[in-house]
Amino acid sequence: MKRPKVLISQKIFDEAVAIVKEDFEVEENQTDTPLPTNVLIQKLKNKVGAIILLTDQIDDNLLSQCHDLKIISNVAVGYNNIDIEACTRRKIMVTNTPGVLDETTADFTWTLLLATARRVVEADQYLRSLKWKRWGLMDFLGYDIHHKVLGICGLGRIGRCVARRAKGFDMQILYTDVSRVHPSIEEGLGASFVDKKTLLAESDFVTLHVPLLPETTHYISTDEFSLMKHTSILINASRGPVVDEKALVKALKEKKIAGAGLDVYEEEPKVEPGLIQMKNVVLAPHIASASYETRLRMATMAAKNLVVGLKGKQPPNLVNPEAF
Ligand code: DGY
Repeated sequence: MKRPKVLISQKIFDEAVAIVKEDFEVEENQTDTPLPTNVLIQKLKNKVGAIILLTDQIDDNLLSQCHDLKIISNVAVGYNNIDIEACTRRKIMVTNTPGVLDETTADFTWTLLLATARRVVEADQYLRSLKWKRWGLMDFLGYDIHHKVLGICGLGRIGRCVARRAKGFDMQILYTDVSRVHPSIEEGLGASFVDKKTLLAESDFVTLHVPLLPETTHYISTDEFSLMKHTSILINASRGPVVDEKALVKALKEKKIAGAGLDVYEEEPKVEPGLIQMKNVVLAPHIASASYETRLRMATMAAKNLVVGLKGKQPPNLVNPEAF
């Protein structure tokens, strides 16, 4: 019997591919380069499902030409690369990979925070370029982290993991969100709810964990920077467009804030040229979830989501239940 066809749009773990191959005929792009849109469309025309990465764009134009598609399984928790409304209208299910990357993303948020505050990258480059001649009392002065104020924008799953780690540094934790979390969660984390302005004005570190939505695009821009402490550090491991990158460069140049640790950018893989020059900025290429364990978990979760959906059951991580 002919098995329904599925596309895996870019290289993923063999373990995840094997899950799909048990029931479906798989066509794989075995490279880590996204297929050009026209090629992706051609390949999806005879497929009932696809496992894609966040560098694959799924829009209405593509969907209008791929009539057999029933499910798109994104190997990411964020799904701003997919036009959800268009998928729902066409009864195409979309799934994501929530939960499995929270702790790893929180670890990396802290990696950025610590590295930026304590100038780790800059110091490493200094040493490697053989400039270090002697110990100096005034060398590479950074900022303390312990007993400072951490401001978390978005106390969802990842924000909470970040908050838990802050307790070990005896930090005061402020958070802001669209609504307050349950008092027992606040109490457990030792986190106090404040409005966005208060958080920006009082925090030594501001870390962003909001999804990318029209309301959160440029959530941090000129007005926000003007509220922040001159000694504060901004961390972004959410989505690039949450921060107005041009305004960030200006704020750093004008010393409105002291530094930034970034994993995400407005137009990846492009980065505002101003940022590249700055020593008080730590830049990572969107790797917050990139541990062996977590990326494997994400890929197998995406494979299972796809298989369940194609077998006619509601996939566990369905983003648009209306399409089921
Ligand atoms: C996601 O899952 O949305 C991250 O950005 C990549 O892990």
